[in-house]
Amino acid sequence: MAETNLQILLRRRPNGPPVAEDFEIVETAVPQPKAGEVLVKAHYLSLDPYMRGRMSDAKSYSAPVALGAVMEGQTAGEVVASTVEGFAPGDIVLGGFGWQRFSCVAPGRLFKIDGGEAPLSASLGVLGMPGLTAWVGLEDIGQPKAGETVVVSAASGAVGQVVGQIAKIRGCKVVGIAGGAKKCEFVTETLGFDACIDHRGDLQAQLDAACPNGIDVYWENVGGAVQRAVFPRMNDHGRMVMCGMIAEYNDTSPAPGPNLMAAVRKRLRIQGFIVSDTGWPRYPQFRQEMLGWMAAGRLTWREDVVEGLRNAPSAFIGLLKGANFGKLVVKID
Ligand SMILES: NC(=O)c1ccc[n+]([C@@H]2O[C@H](COP(=O)([O-])OP(=O)(O)OC[C@H]3O[C@@H](n4cnc5c(N)ncnc54)[C@H](OP(=O)(O)O)[C@@H]3O)[C@@H](O)[C@H]2O)c1
Repeated sequence: MAETNLQILLRRRPNGPPVAEDFEIVETAVPQPKAGEVLVKAHYLSLDPYMRGRMSDAKSYSAPVALGAVMEGQTAGEVVASTVEGFAPGDIVLGGFGWQRFSCVAPGRLFKIDGGEAPLSASLGVLGMPGLTAWVGLEDIGQPKAGETVVVSAASGAVGQVVGQIAKIRGCKVVGIAGGAKKCEFVTETLGFDACIDHRGDLQAQLDAACPNGIDVYWENVGGAVQRAVFPRMNDHGRMVMCGMIAEYNDTSPAPGPNLMAAVRKRLRIQGFIVSDTGWPRYPQFRQEMLGWMAAGRLTWREDVVEGLRNAPSAFIGLLKGANFGKLVVKID
């Protein structure tokens, strides 16, 4: 049977948590590359929290996915046909080709990698956008110094697991926050964090016990109750790396915020960032440093691999509730 292109489209904008009916799965013909295009077959699709923002038409730093269009997403795959010099069938490439099996793309949107350096799916996680986010945010904003206390929320997730391991390499005391005993055990036993707090328990008491000298760097991935517990425990001249607030992405009205007067009194630096602003031109430097740590056994990673592109919507719905354990990727075939 001839191959078809499987695509997942945005059917309607969610109101609160996304549901299966917000997506539409279609099968279409495999597209043919025009002059100046490359045909890519995706092997892995990355599922990431920012996709919830793209489903909404609320004002944001990036345009929403149009209704009826293919959902946006980073993929890793191989070139199957090319009209472009420098790209040949079999080349391994990364790019934002969306929730679909085949796509025709211009070379400016393709990033060729050496497929032998690491498993392909790692280039969507530890060596991909989430890993790059961790590396850029720590380099530019967190700037952890040896001996400081670094707290990381969503610590077992794609970004958090890399943040904490780099902070350990920098000589910090690292405390993770995650949901449930299994994830906390992974964070301390496998990732090597000094402690991990279960955000379903008494956050205040656990933070006081794990951070007796306060917090110098807080990596914000979740917002909500976790942020409110961490904020008053920040030390003078602390840095809060405002990466994301997944606990609030499905809210239909804004949650109450922390009292930001402490930022004045303590001369805190609180800075939001978007990895795409400055990250991708530094990708070769990031990849080289990460591969060095991986080869030296100083950096590990965990993935949560879902089989089949048709299962992407339900996996993404689960991600926003903490159902994933590690970087969530879809194995397309
Ligand atoms: N600024 C940027 O450029 C940038 C780039 C990439 C990602 N981000 C942000 O970074 C954050 C982490 O992304 P990721 O890719 O690493 O995701 P992820 O950790 O792989 O998956 C999300 C995790 O968030 C936690 N979570 C979900 N709902 C929660 C809630 N209500 N309260 C507390 N924790 C909750 C869950 O872990 P637990 O079960 O442990 O709670 C879940 O597994 C997100 O906010 C994302 O938007 C920002």
